[in-house]
Amino acid sequence: MSEERLTRLLGIEDLSRSTAERILDTAEVFLDVTRRPVRKVPTLRGKTVINVFYEASTRTRTSFELAGKRLSADVVNISVATSSTKKGETLRDTVATLDAMRADVIVIRHAASGAPQYLADRVRAAVVNAGDGMHEHPTQALLDAFTIRQKKGSIAGLTVAICGDIAHSRVARSNAQLLRVLGADVRLAGPRTLLPRHTRFLGCPVYDRIEPAIEGADVVMMLRIQQERLGGAVFPTLREYARVFGLNRTRLERAHPDSIVMHPGPMNRGVEIADDIADGPRSVILDQVESGVAIRMAILYLCAREPGQTVGA
Ligand code: NCD
Repeated sequence: MSEERLTRLLGIEDLSRSTAERILDTAEVFLDVTRRPVRKVPTLRGKTVINVFYEASTRTRTSFELAGKRLSADVVNISVATSSTKKGETLRDTVATLDAMRADVIVIRHAASGAPQYLADRVRAAVVNAGDGMHEHPTQALLDAFTIRQKKGSIAGLTVAICGDIAHSRVARSNAQLLRVLGADVRLAGPRTLLPRHTRFLGCPVYDRIEPAIEGADVVMMLRIQQERLGGAVFPTLREYARVFGLNRTRLERAHPDSIVMHPGPMNRGVEIADDIADGPRSVILDQVESGVAIRMAILYLCAREPGQTVGA
């Protein structure tokens, strides 16, 4: 590969189809690396990756850290709870400080939509968005697309139902855009209080019931209710939500017999997804986690490699 370095990954909105496909193809190589007995290559030796997480994370933070380490980069994690943010430092000063330490890649998760863009315009390092408020979560969408491609062979022509808190979910926004660009037919479903106020959103049809959305679907993606982003109660009780919108065995029968079930995590078992579905044969939830490391290796590699450097070198 002799293409240009990736200088930022802020959202699917500004990602071309060819760059998305380049990331997915590169991740194939790194998936093999993560399955070897020795899961490490020297590719990014001497490069520095800094993870700055202003919001809670298990999968995303750990997989960026593992991805960097498996590529032999030096990886530093800044936990905001123990950083100078607690002493009143602004985001801009924190990042200028990190940049002065000559990071090659800064990975950021922040509650404010647009924070990664703000940084990317001010630092030398490549900036990767690990989730900004209700805006975008591009690496999650890429790992989801990668998982679908692994399981189904290709994405074009598939019907994907994304169900749950569509209005507040950055995962829904990024996935809807990416899967459409890659040729899938995407449907969005959720209770009216958790839906955007349009009959179409990001070019996808919007349903206020789950049943018609999952009818014949090849992929059913369930989302958590983003309690932390809600001002008040948007439905009577969690039990009521599970009864009307939860994915259970009866509802899943409407989907294609070979359909797969996805969830970005963290799951609220018994609310948006029943235990036997989360742990059942159609669930690819842990495959998504495995894909996450490979996708993030691909992204870090494309951001930090030397000109002319090839995968595995
Ligand atoms: C998602 C996120 O943080 O947006 N989680 C993740 O990155 N795996 C989804 C969520 O929190 O519901």
